[in-house]
Amino acid sequence: MPVPFQLDRASPMPLQRQVYEAWRTGILDGRFRAGTRLPSTRALARTYGISRITVTTAYEQLLAEGYLETRHGSGTFVSTELPDDRPLAARRSAKRAAPPPAAVRRSAYGLRLGAIIRRPAPTAPLDLSNASPDLSRFPFPLWRRLVSRHLRRASADVVGAASGPHGHSALRHEIAGYLARTRAVRCSPDQVIVVNGSQQALDLCARLLLDPGDAVAVEEPGYAGVRQLFAAHGARLHPMPVTDAGASPANVAADVRVIHVTPSHQFPTGVSMTLPRRLELLEWARVTGAVIVEDDYDSEYRYSGPPLPAMHSLGSGANVIYVGTFSNVMFYGLRLGYLVLPPALVDAFATAKWLADRNSPMLEQAALADFIAEGHLDRHVRRMRRLYKRRRDVLLEAFARHFGDAARIRGDAAGMHLSVRLPDAARVRANATRHRVHIASSESYYSGKAPANEFLVSFSAISERAIREGIRRLSL
Ligand SMILES: Cc1ncc(COP(=O)(O)O)c(C=O)c1O
Repeated sequence: MPVPFQLDRASPMPLQRQVYEAWRTGILDGRFRAGTRLPSTRALARTYGISRITVTTAYEQLLAEGYLETRHGSGTFVSTELPDDRPLAARRSAKRAAPPPAAVRRSAYGLRLGAIIRRPAPTAPLDLSNASPDLSRFPFPLWRRLVSRHLRRASADVVGAASGPHGHSALRHEIAGYLARTRAVRCSPDQVIVVNGSQQALDLCARLLLDPGDAVAVEEPGYAGVRQLFAAHGARLHPMPVTDAGASPANVAADVRVIHVTPSHQFPTGVSMTLPRRLELLEWARVTGAVIVEDDYDSEYRYSGPPLPAMHSLGSGANVIYVGTFSNVMFYGLRLGYLVLPPALVDAFATAKWLADRNSPMLEQAALADFIAEGHLDRHVRRMRRLYKRRRDVLLEAFARHFGDAARIRGDAAGMHLSVRLPDAARVRANATRHRVHIASSESYYSGKAPANEFLVSFSAISERAIREGIRRLSL
């Protein structure tokens, strides 16, 4: 039992009185809140090595004065209504008189966090902004079976500390095989580190590759999650304008240490980086010694055009860190992602992961290894790709029907969202508010000036009917 207060055996005050005073003061200063259950007299006596009668006498006095109450059969609790106003009033006036507590001093990192804005998720009956996978289609009964299997076995690699910071070894094997099969990434399982979603992968990259003041190149427009993260680490951000060919390093300073890109399906424009642009970027990084962080967050969903291998597969892999996530192919709350690292960086990343949180939860990792090994992931991705393609087609049809050629669409060949520029943005916004449709503007993804008429439209977690109706309402 944790010790709620100290007793002083050398004090002239009797122990029974000390127990009484300790509870009473704690109740009055708010440390023991109304409804808190007290330890039993037996447990408290044992904890302090005092006689039970000492504790019982103190409890009885507190009960008699109304500081405590008993609930039949379930124990002793701090009273929900305190006995007399006097101590409370005394407490209030004491509080008023006391100087305000000194503000907690924050680190430079802590202070930089103040500039980051977290927007609450919007709610509207027709939500065209939700880029989540369709969770109603995830095979949860199957997932439950796989998790239960490992709970039943309770093997040391799952419930003990045997697996270490790199992740569950079966999962690291499966990830290496999956990437070879689907993304042409050649790596050994030893290069894979399992983390809590790609956000942690990016955080570890920032910790290990950047010092405050270092330059980092990010796509413009780009993923806010990465811009905010690098800024929080004190990095200087160099925006790389995204054209239809992808992000260009043309005007990026040569002292950039890290380049973050989403080449398969750029976030948020949705464009795919062309092969010449990928080669240009790889060559640029080779010459300058920068590290490319390839964030392949939703490449599994490609609907048209040839499948594009990962950038990682094009070079030697010596200066590319590949980052992947299960948030979009499984579900966000799983919080599992991975890094594929150049061999020379593996130990340092594993140490940083160890210091951050030891390892990602093993039960889910073991279940996920089976999910991949038994073919469920490939099957699920195939099914979802068909579903999302149908929804994307419906979205394109709806734009064509209600906006015609005036809707300028980009990034519809892959992923779970596309970007669109619409002619009369003010009317679209007014319609969205009036007809209760949520559509996301791309403004927050630009660090500079954003086009006023660009929107991101997600189609993965919304029915075909709702897509048609949503676009119709925007066009009224
Ligand atoms: C560019 C980018 N990276 C990563 C992620 C996924 O983050 P996480 O794996 O932490 O859920 C997203 C979210 O969809 C994203 O848009």
